[in-house]
Amino acid sequence: MGVEHTAYLTAVWRKMGKIDMASVKDVPFSSKMMAYVMGWLDPASVDTIVQRTTVIDAVLAALQKEHIVEIGAGLSARRERFPKSAVYNLDLPSFPLKKENFIPYVIGEDALEVPFMDAVFVVEGVSMYLEKKQLKKMLKEIVAHKGHVLIDFFDKSKGSKYKSFREDLYKRMFSKVACREKPFSFAVENAESARSLLSSCGFSEIEELRLPLKKTLDILFYAKS
Ligand SMILES: C[S@@+](CC[C@H](N)C(=O)[O-])C[C@H]1O[C@@H](n2cnc3c(N)ncnc32)[C@H](O)[C@@H]1O
Repeated sequence: MGVEHTAYLTAVWRKMGKIDMASVKDVPFSSKMMAYVMGWLDPASVDTIVQRTTVIDAVLAALQKEHIVEIGAGLSARRERFPKSAVYNLDLPSFPLKKENFIPYVIGEDALEVPFMDAVFVVEGVSMYLEKKQLKKMLKEIVAHKGHVLIDFFDKSKGSKYKSFREDLYKRMFSKVACREKPFSFAVENAESARSLLSSCGFSEIEELRLPLKKTLDILFYAKS
């Protein structure tokens, strides 16, 4: 397993939340079982992904952009949900399933090369696996393409030090799936620091899109360059 396999979790949790019933067919059986157990241990993760995807889709539907570029796309089914847009899926070259319009791209290492400007870039459930330097490089590249971005972060101010047995077990399983002792490497201090980060990379209009959830670590932003 490796960080690519975290995409199996999100695909299964969207099925659990009944917002994408199709992508799960590409998840190997053992990963599917692991994801169902983890979703049962931490229903807040399932709720977060359901709300996050729903809010992002609502913005994409309103924008009606010709090009949608998903970075760290995993098994995203936005190509099916937005047939009027050209949807590009960027992910690690080692990503196990390369759908149509797949572009290998290592955030922070590769140059972001898409042959159009003014696209909307979706970076959903990815920032937490990156180093700040990688994240900033990618955001600046999006700005250089005059792109809009929809991106979420983990917000440290929403976390709690106390972990129940279930939460602890969930975290251990997450480490196994991502193949890292600490599965997550990046979080913002709070919403204000997320705004500063986006602004420092060149984004001007920055809006927080609130997720209607009591328990979540996730904060979502829409920004224009
Ligand atoms: C939790 S999954 C999210 C997938 C998808 N965005 C979703 O919401 O279902 C994280 C994704 O980020 C990708 N990823 C992690 N680090 C990356 C990097 N440095 N460059 C490109 N993709 C990366 C993984 O391969 C994986 O597909």
